[in-house]
Amino acid sequence: MIKFVDLNRQYEQIKDEIHAKIDEVIRTKDFVQGRFTRELEKEYGAMHGFKHMIPCSSGSTAVLVAISSLGLREGDEVITTPHTFIATSEPIHHLKAKPVFVDIDPVTYNIDTTKIEQAITEKTRAIAPVHLYGNPADMEEIMRIAKKHNLMVMEDCAHAHFAKLNGRFVGTFGDINAVSFNPGKNLGAYGDAGAIVSGSDELYNRAKKIFDHGRLDKYTHDVIGYNLRMDDIQAAVLLVKIKYILEWTKKRQENAALYTELFSGNPKIVTPKTQKGGEHVYHLYVIQVENRDGLMAHLKEKGIDVRNHYPVPLHIQPAFDYLGYKKGDFPVTESVASRVVSLPIFPELTKDEIKFIADEVNSFVR
Ligand SMILES: Cc1ncc(COP(=O)(O)O)c(C=O)c1O
Repeated sequence: MIKFVDLNRQYEQIKDEIHAKIDEVIRTKDFVQGRFTRELEKEYGAMHGFKHMIPCSSGSTAVLVAISSLGLREGDEVITTPHTFIATSEPIHHLKAKPVFVDIDPVTYNIDTTKIEQAITEKTRAIAPVHLYGNPADMEEIMRIAKKHNLMVMEDCAHAHFAKLNGRFVGTFGDINAVSFNPGKNLGAYGDAGAIVSGSDELYNRAKKIFDHGRLDKYTHDVIGYNLRMDDIQAAVLLVKIKYILEWTKKRQENAALYTELFSGNPKIVTPKTQKGGEHVYHLYVIQVENRDGLMAHLKEKGIDVRNHYPVPLHIQPAFDYLGYKKGDFPVTESVASRVVSLPIFPELTKDEIKFIADEVNSFVR
Protein backbone atom coordinates (compact mmCIF):
# COMPACT_ATOMS: atom_id res chain seq x y z
CA MET A 1 0.00 0.00 0.00
CA ILE A 2 1.42 3.41 -0.94
CA LYS A 3 -0.18 6.17 1.11
CA PHE A 4 -1.04 9.52 -0.42
CA VAL A 5 1.04 11.25 2.26
CA ASP A 6 3.05 9.00 4.57
CA LEU A 7 3.84 11.29 7.50
CA ASN A 8 5.31 8.42 9.47
CA ARG A 9 8.40 8.21 7.26
CA GLN A 10 9.22 11.85 7.99
CA TYR A 11 8.45 11.43 11.69
CA GLU A 12 10.86 8.49 11.94
CA GLN A 13 13.71 10.73 10.70
CA ILE A 14 13.07 13.62 13.10
CA LYS A 15 11.28 12.11 16.08
CA ASP A 16 14.06 12.65 18.63
CA GLU A 17 14.28 16.34 17.77
CA ILE A 18 10.49 16.71 17.75
CA HIS A 19 10.05 15.11 21.17
CA ALA A 20 12.90 17.18 22.63
CA LYS A 21 11.39 20.41 21.31
CA ILE A 22 7.88 19.59 22.51
CA ASP A 23 9.37 18.72 25.93
CA GLU A 24 10.99 22.15 25.96
CA VAL A 25 7.56 23.79 25.51
CA ILE A 26 6.12 21.72 28.33
CA ARG A 27 9.06 22.42 30.62
CA THR A 28 8.97 26.17 29.98
CA LYS A 29 5.12 26.33 30.03
CA ASP A 30 5.39 28.83 27.22
CA PHE A 31 2.18 27.51 25.66
CA VAL A 32 0.60 30.57 24.05
CA GLN A 33 2.38 33.45 22.30
CA GLY A 34 5.60 32.31 23.88
CA ARG A 35 9.20 32.06 22.76
CA PHE A 36 8.48 29.30 20.22
CA THR A 37 5.98 31.31 18.17
CA ARG A 38 8.33 34.32 18.43
CA GLU A 39 11.22 32.20 17.16
CA LEU A 40 9.09 30.81 14.34
CA GLU A 41 8.21 34.35 13.24
CA LYS A 42 11.91 35.14 13.02
CA GLU A 43 13.00 31.92 11.33
CA TYR A 44 10.22 31.56 8.76
CA GLY A 45 10.20 35.30 8.13
CA ALA A 46 13.97 35.46 7.64
CA MET A 47 14.02 32.51 5.23
CA HIS A 48 11.56 34.35 2.98
CA GLY A 49 12.49 37.96 3.69
CA PHE A 50 8.99 38.65 5.02
CA LYS A 51 8.79 41.91 6.93
CA HIS A 52 5.99 40.65 9.18
CA MET A 53 4.59 37.27 10.16
CA ILE A 54 1.75 36.39 12.52
CA PRO A 55 1.50 32.70 13.51
CA CYS A 56 -2.21 31.74 13.49
CA SER A 57 -4.33 28.80 14.56
CA SER A 58 -4.77 27.49 10.96
CA GLY A 59 -4.45 28.42 7.33
CA SER A 60 -8.19 29.09 7.25
CA THR A 61 -8.00 31.54 10.14
CA ALA A 62 -4.94 33.16 8.54
CA VAL A 63 -7.04 33.80 5.41
CA LEU A 64 -9.84 35.12 7.63
CA VAL A 65 -7.57 37.56 9.48
CA ALA A 66 -5.76 38.63 6.31
CA ILE A 67 -9.03 39.40 4.51
CA SER A 68 -10.50 41.02 7.65
CA SER A 69 -7.53 43.40 7.77
CA LEU A 70 -8.48 44.75 4.33
CA GLY A 71 -11.44 46.57 5.89
CA LEU A 72 -14.07 45.27 3.46
CA ARG A 73 -17.63 46.62 3.73
CA GLU A 74 -20.89 44.80 3.16
CA GLY A 75 -21.41 44.14 -0.55
CA ASP A 76 -17.75 44.65 -1.51
CA GLU A 77 -16.48 42.16 -4.07
CA VAL A 78 -13.36 40.01 -3.97
CA ILE A 79 -12.20 38.30 -7.15
CA THR A 80 -10.92 34.77 -6.66
CA THR A 81 -10.66 31.33 -8.23
CA PRO A 82 -13.38 28.65 -8.18
CA HIS A 83 -10.76 25.87 -8.42
CA THR A 84 -9.44 25.72 -4.86
CA PHE A 85 -10.35 24.63 -1.36
CA ILE A 86 -13.32 26.53 0.09
CA ALA A 87 -11.15 28.19 2.78
CA THR A 88 -10.10 30.89 0.30
CA SER A 89 -13.70 32.06 -0.18
CA GLU A 90 -15.39 31.40 3.16
CA PRO A 91 -14.00 34.48 4.95
CA ILE A 92 -15.15 36.74 2.11
CA HIS A 93 -18.68 35.54 2.85
CA HIS A 94 -18.21 35.84 6.64
CA LEU A 95 -17.24 39.49 6.20
CA LYS A 96 -20.50 40.07 4.25
CA ALA A 97 -18.52 40.69 1.09
CA LYS A 98 -19.07 38.71 -2.11
CA PRO A 99 -16.73 36.18 -3.74
CA VAL A 100 -16.60 36.79 -7.50
CA PHE A 101 -15.15 33.85 -9.37
CA VAL A 102 -12.99 34.03 -12.46
CA ASP A 103 -12.18 30.94 -14.54
CA ILE A 104 -8.73 29.34 -14.41
CA ASP A 105 -5.91 29.15 -16.91
CA PRO A 106 -6.07 25.76 -18.70
CA VAL A 107 -2.30 25.28 -18.45
CA THR A 108 -1.37 26.37 -14.91
CA TYR A 109 -4.83 25.87 -13.27
CA ASN A 110 -4.38 29.22 -11.49
CA ILE A 111 -6.73 32.20 -11.92
CA ASP A 112 -6.78 33.29 -15.58
CA THR A 113 -5.33 36.79 -15.44
CA THR A 114 -6.70 37.62 -18.91
CA LYS A 115 -10.23 37.32 -17.46
CA ILE A 116 -9.78 39.32 -14.24
CA GLU A 117 -10.46 42.78 -15.65
CA GLN A 118 -13.82 41.70 -17.12
CA ALA A 119 -14.94 40.80 -13.58
CA ILE A 120 -14.01 44.14 -11.99
CA THR A 121 -16.96 46.36 -11.01
CA GLU A 122 -17.21 49.53 -8.94
CA LYS A 123 -17.64 47.25 -5.90
CA THR A 124 -14.44 45.27 -6.39
CA ARG A 125 -11.96 45.82 -3.57
CA ALA A 126 -9.51 42.94 -3.73
CA ILE A 127 -8.13 39.96 -5.62
CA ALA A 128 -7.40 36.68 -3.82
CA PRO A 129 -5.27 34.40 -6.00
CA VAL A 130 -4.19 30.91 -4.90
CA HIS A 131 -0.82 29.35 -5.79
CA LEU A 132 -2.57 26.11 -6.57
CA TYR A 133 -0.77 22.81 -6.00
CA GLY A 134 2.44 24.79 -5.28
CA ASN A 135 2.57 26.48 -8.71
CA PRO A 136 2.91 30.28 -8.41
CA ALA A 137 0.03 32.31 -9.82
CA ASP A 138 1.02 35.04 -12.29
CA MET A 139 1.56 37.58 -9.51
CA GLU A 140 3.25 40.20 -11.65
CA GLU A 141 0.20 40.48 -13.89
CA ILE A 142 -2.16 40.30 -10.90
CA MET A 143 -0.28 43.12 -9.15
CA ARG A 144 -0.30 45.18 -12.36
CA ILE A 145 -4.10 44.82 -12.62
CA ALA A 146 -4.54 45.53 -8.90
CA LYS A 147 -2.47 48.69 -9.10
CA LYS A 148 -4.32 49.91 -12.19
CA HIS A 149 -7.72 49.47 -10.50
CA ASN A 150 -6.64 50.38 -6.98
CA LEU A 151 -7.38 46.93 -5.54
CA MET A 152 -5.73 45.06 -2.67
CA VAL A 153 -4.30 41.57 -3.05
CA MET A 154 -4.32 38.62 -0.64
CA GLU A 155 -2.24 35.66 -1.81
CA ASP A 156 -3.37 32.25 -0.56
CA CYS A 157 0.00 30.48 -0.22
CA ALA A 158 -1.40 27.39 1.57
CA HIS A 159 0.10 25.03 -1.03
CA ALA A 160 3.20 26.98 -1.83
CA HIS A 161 5.82 27.24 0.94
CA PHE A 162 9.00 28.57 -0.70
CA ALA A 163 7.59 28.65 -4.24
CA LYS A 164 9.08 31.50 -6.28
CA LEU A 165 8.17 33.67 -9.22
CA ASN A 166 11.02 35.40 -11.05
CA GLY A 167 13.29 34.72 -8.08
CA ARG A 168 10.87 36.18 -5.54
CA PHE A 169 9.01 34.10 -2.93
CA VAL A 170 5.23 33.90 -3.15
CA GLY A 171 3.73 35.77 -0.22
CA THR A 172 5.93 38.81 -0.95
CA PHE A 173 3.78 40.19 -3.79
CA GLY A 174 0.34 40.77 -2.26
CA ASP A 175 -0.58 43.25 0.48
CA ILE A 176 -1.28 40.63 3.13
CA ASN A 177 -1.06 36.91 2.56
CA ALA A 178 -1.86 33.59 4.19
CA VAL A 179 -0.02 30.27 4.57
CA SER A 180 -1.13 26.94 6.03
CA PHE A 181 0.87 24.58 8.23
CA ASN A 182 -1.81 21.88 8.19
CA PRO A 183 -0.09 18.49 8.81
CA GLY A 184 -0.40 17.46 5.15
CA LYS A 185 1.11 20.65 3.76
CA ASN A 186 4.74 20.88 2.55
CA LEU A 187 5.65 22.37 5.94
CA GLY A 188 3.17 20.83 8.36
CA ALA A 189 2.60 21.11 12.10
CA TYR A 190 1.18 18.30 14.26
CA GLY A 191 -2.26 19.88 14.30
CA ASP A 192 -3.86 22.97 12.81
CA ALA A 193 -1.58 25.95 12.25
CA GLY A 194 -1.07 28.74 9.73
CA ALA A 195 0.31 32.25 9.42
CA ILE A 196 -0.18 35.67 7.94
CA VAL A 197 2.73 37.33 6.16
CA SER A 198 2.88 40.91 5.02
CA GLY A 199 5.19 43.73 4.01
CA SER A 200 2.66 46.38 5.07
CA ASP A 201 3.02 47.90 8.55
CA GLU A 202 -0.55 49.15 8.47
CA LEU A 203 -2.18 45.83 7.51
CA TYR A 204 0.09 43.92 9.88
CA ASN A 205 -0.92 46.16 12.79
CA ARG A 206 -4.61 45.66 11.99
CA ALA A 207 -4.23 41.89 11.57
CA LYS A 208 -2.23 41.63 14.79
CA LYS A 209 -5.15 43.13 16.69
CA ILE A 210 -7.87 41.12 14.92
CA PHE A 211 -6.19 37.77 15.59
CA ASP A 212 -5.84 38.41 19.32
CA HIS A 213 -9.03 39.95 20.74
CA GLY A 214 -8.37 43.38 19.27
CA ARG A 215 -5.76 43.88 21.96
CA LEU A 216 -3.56 46.89 22.50
CA ASP A 217 -2.46 45.33 25.77
CA LYS A 218 -3.83 42.52 27.93
CA TYR A 219 -7.09 44.24 28.91
CA THR A 220 -7.40 47.06 26.40
CA HIS A 221 -9.33 46.05 23.28
CA ASP A 222 -9.14 48.50 20.41
CA VAL A 223 -11.33 46.55 17.95
CA ILE A 224 -13.54 43.46 18.15
CA GLY A 225 -11.31 40.53 17.32
CA TYR A 226 -10.99 36.81 17.86
CA ASN A 227 -8.62 34.30 19.43
CA LEU A 228 -6.89 32.86 16.36
CA ARG A 229 -3.41 32.37 17.82
CA MET A 230 -1.05 29.48 17.13
CA ASP A 231 -0.10 27.13 20.01
CA ASP A 232 3.58 27.08 20.90
CA ILE A 233 3.62 23.29 20.63
CA GLN A 234 2.81 23.67 16.93
CA ALA A 235 5.47 26.35 16.58
CA ALA A 236 7.98 23.98 18.23
CA VAL A 237 7.21 21.23 15.69
CA LEU A 238 7.59 23.72 12.86
CA LEU A 239 10.91 24.97 14.24
CA VAL A 240 12.31 21.45 13.91
CA LYS A 241 10.84 20.87 10.46
CA ILE A 242 11.92 24.22 9.05
CA LYS A 243 15.54 23.02 9.13
CA TYR A 244 14.67 20.37 6.55
CA ILE A 245 12.08 22.12 4.41
CA LEU A 246 14.38 23.16 1.57
CA GLU A 247 15.76 19.62 1.31
CA TRP A 248 12.20 18.19 1.34
CA THR A 249 11.10 20.70 -1.30
CA LYS A 250 13.98 19.61 -3.54
CA LYS A 251 12.91 15.98 -3.11
CA ARG A 252 9.35 16.87 -4.14
CA GLN A 253 10.73 18.60 -7.24
CA GLU A 254 12.89 15.57 -8.09
CA ASN A 255 9.92 13.25 -7.61
CA ALA A 256 7.83 15.44 -9.91
CA ALA A 257 10.58 15.47 -12.56
CA LEU A 258 10.76 11.68 -12.46
CA TYR A 259 6.98 11.28 -12.89
CA THR A 260 6.99 13.77 -15.76
CA GLU A 261 9.81 11.88 -17.47
CA LEU A 262 7.99 8.56 -17.01
CA PHE A 263 4.81 10.04 -18.53
CA SER A 264 6.62 11.82 -21.37
CA GLY A 265 5.93 9.05 -23.89
CA ASN A 266 2.20 9.00 -23.16
CA PRO A 267 0.27 11.69 -25.07
CA LYS A 268 -2.92 10.89 -23.15
CA ILE A 269 -1.52 12.16 -19.85
CA VAL A 270 -1.33 15.92 -19.25
CA THR A 271 1.49 16.59 -16.80
CA PRO A 272 1.84 19.74 -14.63
CA LYS A 273 3.16 22.91 -16.31
CA THR A 274 4.95 25.51 -14.22
CA GLN A 275 4.02 29.19 -14.48
CA LYS A 276 6.54 31.02 -16.71
CA GLY A 277 9.33 32.32 -14.45
CA GLY A 278 8.02 30.20 -11.59
CA GLU A 279 9.48 27.59 -9.27
CA HIS A 280 6.82 24.98 -8.49
CA VAL A 281 7.10 23.30 -5.06
CA TYR A 282 4.72 20.42 -5.82
CA HIS A 283 2.49 20.32 -2.80
CA LEU A 284 0.52 18.17 -5.21
CA TYR A 285 1.50 16.40 -8.43
CA VAL A 286 -1.64 16.56 -10.52
CA ILE A 287 -2.19 14.96 -13.91
CA GLN A 288 -5.18 15.18 -16.24
CA VAL A 289 -6.60 12.11 -17.93
CA GLU A 290 -9.79 11.34 -19.84
CA ASN A 291 -11.12 8.53 -17.61
CA ARG A 292 -10.19 9.96 -14.22
CA ASP A 293 -12.61 7.90 -12.16
CA GLY A 294 -11.52 4.69 -13.90
CA LEU A 295 -7.85 5.50 -13.23
CA MET A 296 -8.54 6.26 -9.57
CA ALA A 297 -10.35 2.93 -9.15
CA HIS A 298 -7.52 1.08 -10.93
CA LEU A 299 -4.82 2.64 -8.74
CA LYS A 300 -6.81 1.97 -5.59
CA GLU A 301 -7.05 -1.67 -6.57
CA LYS A 302 -3.25 -1.74 -6.95
CA GLY A 303 -2.79 -0.32 -3.43
CA ILE A 304 -1.98 3.25 -4.49
CA ASP A 305 -3.80 5.98 -2.59
CA VAL A 306 -4.62 8.90 -4.91
CA ARG A 307 -6.86 11.96 -4.53
CA ASN A 308 -8.80 14.50 -6.52
CA HIS A 309 -8.16 18.20 -5.89
CA TYR A 310 -10.89 19.43 -6.27
CA PRO A 311 -13.91 17.49 -7.57
CA VAL A 312 -16.62 20.17 -7.16
CA PRO A 313 -15.73 23.75 -8.18
CA LEU A 314 -16.73 26.44 -5.70
CA HIS A 315 -19.22 28.18 -8.00
CA ILE A 316 -21.40 25.06 -8.01
CA GLN A 317 -20.98 24.13 -4.33
CA PRO A 318 -24.34 24.06 -2.51
CA ALA A 319 -22.96 26.54 0.05
CA PHE A 320 -22.54 29.15 -2.68
CA ASP A 321 -25.94 28.58 -4.36
CA TYR A 322 -26.98 32.03 -3.22
CA LEU A 323 -24.35 33.64 -5.47
CA GLY A 324 -26.40 32.51 -8.48
CA TYR A 325 -23.69 30.78 -10.49
CA LYS A 326 -24.58 27.71 -12.54
CA LYS A 327 -22.89 24.77 -14.23
CA GLY A 328 -21.24 25.94 -17.44
CA ASP A 329 -20.22 29.36 -16.07
CA PHE A 330 -16.52 28.39 -15.81
CA PRO A 331 -15.87 25.73 -18.46
CA VAL A 332 -12.11 25.42 -17.92
CA THR A 333 -12.52 24.88 -14.18
CA GLU A 334 -15.31 22.37 -14.75
CA SER A 335 -13.33 20.41 -17.33
CA VAL A 336 -10.18 20.36 -15.17
CA ALA A 337 -12.17 19.34 -12.07
CA SER A 338 -13.55 16.33 -13.95
CA ARG A 339 -10.15 15.18 -15.22
CA VAL A 340 -7.54 15.74 -12.47
CA VAL A 341 -5.90 13.11 -10.28
CA SER A 342 -3.30 13.86 -7.60
CA LEU A 343 -0.57 11.21 -7.27
CA PRO A 344 1.56 10.66 -4.13
CA ILE A 345 4.48 13.14 -4.20
CA PHE A 346 5.71 13.36 -0.57
CA PRO A 347 9.52 13.74 -0.22
CA GLU A 348 10.20 10.29 1.26
CA LEU A 349 8.58 8.43 -1.66
CA THR A 350 11.19 6.12 -3.25
CA LYS A 351 12.14 6.05 -6.93
CA ASP A 352 10.86 2.46 -7.14
CA GLU A 353 7.50 3.51 -5.76
CA ILE A 354 7.26 6.35 -8.29
CA LYS A 355 8.14 3.94 -11.10
CA PHE A 356 5.52 1.48 -9.87
CA ILE A 357 2.85 4.21 -9.71
CA ALA A 358 3.83 5.59 -13.14
CA ASP A 359 3.78 2.09 -14.69
CA GLU A 360 0.28 1.52 -13.35
CA VAL A 361 -0.90 4.91 -14.66
CA ASN A 362 0.71 4.33 -18.07
CA SER A 363 -0.75 0.84 -18.38
CA PHE A 364 -4.28 2.10 -17.66
CA VAL A 365 -4.18 5.32 -19.69
CA ARG A 366 -3.60 4.28 -23.31
C1 LIG B 1 -5.84 26.60 -0.94
C2 LIG B 1 -6.08 26.47 0.53
N1 LIG B 1 -6.29 27.57 1.26
C3 LIG B 1 -6.48 27.51 2.59
C4 LIG B 1 -6.49 26.31 3.25
C5 LIG B 1 -6.77 26.27 4.71
O1 LIG B 1 -5.72 25.78 5.45
P1 LIG B 1 -5.96 25.02 6.85
O2 LIG B 1 -6.33 23.61 6.53
O3 LIG B 1 -4.63 25.12 7.52
O4 LIG B 1 -7.02 25.72 7.58
C6 LIG B 1 -6.27 25.13 2.53
C7 LIG B 1 -6.28 23.82 3.21
O5 LIG B 1 -6.27 22.78 2.66
C8 LIG B 1 -6.07 25.20 1.13
O6 LIG B 1 -5.89 24.11 0.41
